[in-house]
Amino acid sequence: MFIFIAAVLIVGVAADVYMQNPRGSNNRLNEGSAARAYHNRLFDSQNNDRGGYNVGDRSLTAFDPANPVMADDNALFDMTADPEAKVQYPMMFFEGSVLPVEWTSQHGCGGNEASDPYKLNCNMVIQYTCTMSNNDVASLNVNLKDGGNVERPDATDQATNIGEKTTANNNNRRGRHESESWYHECTARPRNQGLFTADQCTGDEGKSSIVTRQNNLGDRYGLECPEERDYYPYWMPTPWKDIAYLTDRTEMFCDANGKFTGASQNNKEVFRCVSPNTDERKNEQQAPANQAYVKAVTQEACNKTGGVWKGYSWGLPAPECRQADWSRVNHLGNGKNAQPITYNWTLPTIREATTDPNASFAKCVLRVRYNISTDDFDPWTTDSTSNHKNDLPNSSPVTNNPTVDIGINQGLRLAVNTAQFGRTFQDRSHVFFIKKKPAAFANRKVYNLNVRGKRGNIVQTFPATEYDFTPSRLHVRKSDLVHVQWTGSNTHHNGHTAGDGQAGDAGEGKGGTDRHNMVQIGQTSSGYTAGDFSYNYPLPLDKFPDNLFTRSKCYYANGTAVGSPIDCAILMGTSGYIQSRSQVTSATKTVDVLLNNAPASLVGGILLDFSTTADAVASVTEKQNSVSSSTSFDYICTRNNNFSNRGQKATLIVDP
Ligand SMILES: *[C@@H]1O[C@H](CO)[C@@H](O)[C@H](O)[C@H]1NC(C)=O
Ligand SMILES: *[C@@H]1O[C@H](CO)[C@@H](O)[C@H](O)[C@H]1NC(C)=O
Ligand SMILES: *[C@@H]1O[C@H](CO)[C@@H](O)[C@H](O)[C@H]1NC(C)=O
Ligand SMILES: *[C@@H]1O[C@H](CO)[C@@H](O)[C@H](O)[C@H]1NC(C)=O
Ligand SMILES: *[C@@H]1O[C@H](CO)[C@@H](O)[C@H](O)[C@H]1NC(C)=O
Ligand SMILES: *[C@@H]1O[C@H](CO)[C@@H](O)[C@H](O)[C@H]1NC(C)=O
Repeated sequence: MFIFIAAVLIVGVAADVYMQNPRGSNNRLNEGSAARAYHNRLFDSQNNDRGGYNVGDRSLTAFDPANPVMADDNALFDMTADPEAKVQYPMMFFEGSVLPVEWTSQHGCGGNEASDPYKLNCNMVIQYTCTMSNNDVASLNVNLKDGGNVERPDATDQATNIGEKTTANNNNRRGRHESESWYHECTARPRNQGLFTADQCTGDEGKSSIVTRQNNLGDRYGLECPEERDYYPYWMPTPWKDIAYLTDRTEMFCDANGKFTGASQNNKEVFRCVSPNTDERKNEQQAPANQAYVKAVTQEACNKTGGVWKGYSWGLPAPECRQADWSRVNHLGNGKNAQPITYNWTLPTIREATTDPNASFAKCVLRVRYNISTDDFDPWTTDSTSNHKNDLPNSSPVTNNPTVDIGINQGLRLAVNTAQFGRTFQDRSHVFFIKKKPAAFANRKVYNLNVRGKRGNIVQTFPATEYDFTPSRLHVRKSDLVHVQWTGSNTHHNGHTAGDGQAGDAGEGKGGTDRHNMVQIGQTSSGYTAGDFSYNYPLPLDKFPDNLFTRSKCYYANGTAVGSPIDCAILMGTSGYIQSRSQVTSATKTVDVLLNNAPASLVGGILLDFSTTADAVASVTEKQNSVSSSTSFDYICTRNNNFSNRGQKATLIVDP
């Protein structure tokens, strides 16, 4: 009965967290429909089917499902190499660069539980993992793939089949985050019997960690382990690395230096039982030999099997811990300061990101979990002793849809689903690369400047967003570099089925395609006035030689300088379709006025360096938030900026 109710309720829910930058997938890949095809594809988001962005395409044509990735990882980020390749485009960020991670969450968060309480408990867990093949235990290895189709990878609860499933998933081009071996262990490991499960019938002895209060039928989502998904920090070693823990209970979880004090695998050893034979535990094909060890979840049980109780830690700094930013309930919107809720992530080095010793890049995925529970009981002190047990009076502090007396000796029913009274939502990015900075810039700070949003109007894109640059207002110093890069899909048709919303892909240019460019704006009749956001017309570069591109130096992702300021301006204005003035003067290439023949991605991105430009004079000062010698540059995307319908317009401010 309880199981039935919970199953029915899970189907219709729409709550959620959506990553807006980097673009969260919400389990989408290349769907032409507004609703994602398969919510079980890679992970359990518990989000609305309409959320998420398609994976990026590298060129002007959608990727080929039979060959979705580019074989040559060096050519992948070379703008001049194979511009028509029909492959996916993973964003590429430099080691140590700053990436604005933006999201919207439906139920609100923030407010300190002790001093400024909100009406719920909440925390955000931000993590990443990267392709790794060299871990001490096979289930911690990761082989990230966005995949060529919207199907879910195969999994197995038979240890002997793990290798076979991996091969089949590779052959069938299935997307994958966690590994086949990770999910297999989840099916074999007994669930944590100490957890509070309320009146959900999950207390049964013998069930494995695929069953939780929130997922009491053990539904499978990709190769994610449901118990690991629902709880943090997890009590077994996981393939995830921690970035930040944002909470309303800073006094409980954060130290004075803003570091998480809990059992993060970053800096603390998390123990599990493994085979004493190194080859057996490192090699997935040997997994059958590991079965007894996987089942032994205590040190004592491990000793009895002859296993080794071994601690695993990434040897990274403790994750940042701070108060979650405030956001409003029932409103997938911005924070208190009218800016998107953002976490500035300083990217790890390749060495930190992957345990593979010789890797020259890391292939990674970012994960955001949004965890909320009510104040009706204290989630941090309630455990399995409060679980409802069959044949006994209900001892759970909360029960499903109770009928309550409001003092009139008649009942009124409350909408309570104990599978959702404490609940975790999730979103994950598509695969992205972390690469080394060009040697000349090794000691310079890099800020990422990207694009968010997808094809459609405000209603059609929801709960994703319309197009915008992100951050839309970026302050950097002259000594910093700005890494400008965008990607988009050629299949954002946003058609039927449209789930809970409206189908359609309002916008300019070829249907279903995302395109972007970066063109400086300014007043043209009476001269250029910087820092004034009012204009919607580009600044003609020939008439205004004092512009963004003459004031900066412009480099390809590999550190090679772009020919001239005008070449750079042309490149940014055509999304890399035309890369030099000579291609214009010789009429080798003519860009479509709506960028229809330009690639969906600014391949590799462009580094802008402001270090050699003179400080600005007073006439080009920014009006707010800046010292008088700052310079600001306002720019738009010519295709998508459509005044009164859509604004893709932003400001870059360079402080001395
Ligand atoms: C760097 O990249 C640019 C554009 O992708 C390419 O034209 C150039 O040949 C590359 N330079 C080197 C040294 O590889
Ligand atoms: C969510 O919060 C609950 C307490 O309400 C906690 O037990 C659980 O570990 C948290 N999960 C995550 C993913 O933060
Ligand atoms: C397990 O074995 C180790 C090494 O023999 C020993 O130090 C430890 O006390 C044992 N632990 C348990 C819980 O039996
Ligand atoms: C993120 O970094 C940018 C650039 O320095 C800054 O303008 C912005 O305020 C930061 N945002 C947050 C939430 O710290
Ligand atoms: C890494 O490179 C070193 C030196 O080239 C080599 O000896 C070693 O075998 C490589 N390791 C792996 C795992 O490829
Ligand atoms: C600007 O947006 C509106 C509303 O989506 C649309 O009707 C109009 O066609 C757009 N303008 C152009 C030139 O496409």
